[in-house]
Amino acid sequence: SLVDDPSGDDSLSLEEQDRERQRLFGILERLVKWENSNNPDVLAAARAEIDRCFPDGPPPILDPFGGGGAIPLEAQRLGLTALSGDLNPVAVLIQKAMIEIPPRFAGRPPVHADIDTDLTTWQRAQGLAADVEAYGQWMRDEAERRIGHLYPDATGPNGEKLTPIAWIWARTVESPDPTWNGHVPLVASWTLSNKKGKPKVWIEPVINRATQTITYEIRTGGEPSHERTVDRGNGTCIATGSAIPGDYIKAQSRSGLMGQQLIAVVGEGQSGRGYYTPSDRDSEAAHSGEPPWKPEGRNPEKLTGGTVFIYGLDEWWKLFTPRQLTALTTFSDLLSEVRERVIADAAAS
Ligand SMILES: C[S@@+](CC[C@H](N)C(=O)[O-])C[C@H]1O[C@@H](n2cnc3c(N)ncnc32)[C@H](O)[C@@H]1O
Repeated sequence: SLVDDPSGDDSLSLEEQDRERQRLFGILERLVKWENSNNPDVLAAARAEIDRCFPDGPPPILDPFGGGGAIPLEAQRLGLTALSGDLNPVAVLIQKAMIEIPPRFAGRPPVHADIDTDLTTWQRAQGLAADVEAYGQWMRDEAERRIGHLYPDATGPNGEKLTPIAWIWARTVESPDPTWNGHVPLVASWTLSNKKGKPKVWIEPVINRATQTITYEIRTGGEPSHERTVDRGNGTCIATGSAIPGDYIKAQSRSGLMGQQLIAVVGEGQSGRGYYTPSDRDSEAAHSGEPPWKPEGRNPEKLTGGTVFIYGLDEWWKLFTPRQLTALTTFSDLLSEVRERVIADAAAS
């Protein structure tokens, strides 16, 4: 440890050792409080103890399995040089964002020209944080301007405004049963929400035999009216009950004959989260988007345990809807653009 327990100090009686131990515990108790994260007095008290034990300066700390970076961050807070890594590149990215980059900007003002603040001096990473917020806001606003029309707001069952946050899709195939003319959904669960103490929310497929069409309604309370229609790759025709063999589903998909149908939308409004039946406008918007670019190249056969390649989803772009590709391309374009803006603003500041 950095600071030894006083039991090793023979010059102290047992009572004195215990008093010293309680004093050190007191520092720890103040140090672990969230509200003391940046309290200079508490940090100075802890650093003084480390300095007492390492008169020539404390050793650096190395955490090769750093994960989210809590250990190197704490070490840095205590004034130690912290080195960390991880097998997972996402963990390394988080570590860079938390531990490596902020200290480089310590005490520096933001470079964005239009920051709304009362601060006149910039401590620690406050300037960097203000920049991240301001440029992040620009990216958000610009994304809304460029692709917001692809994500229309919706009106909930009681006329309230809802912002869609998730779209529930069903893959569909042509029913192999000759008595049903059209696509049928492959759905592993009709339940949308199953929270303790609240009525279940589920999707009811409404089968119109006269027109041989299926529409979807959201129901609250009771149990789903239908069993799942796909299980371990094998399907059941919801309209006729006929089996849909897994090989038939894969062959349809590989031939580009699998469809997708929006069956529910999750929206957030003033009264919380709600589920609603997609309108024609929702379906049109979900199918819209013309990405200017798509990620080409074959994906690995073992991707997600081999569950996509066998369905003919053998290139990266096939894993996304055009609207998803449009959104991803927009954000990646904005990232390059915001970089140029930051460089120009920094040069001018
Ligand atoms: C339990 S987490 C670490 C949590 C971290 N101490 C914290 O407080 O946030 C363990 C980490 O070790 C990483 N890991 C596992 N095997 C590894 C290896 N062979 N080399 C490097 N990192 C590895 C994992 O990716 C994971 O992020």
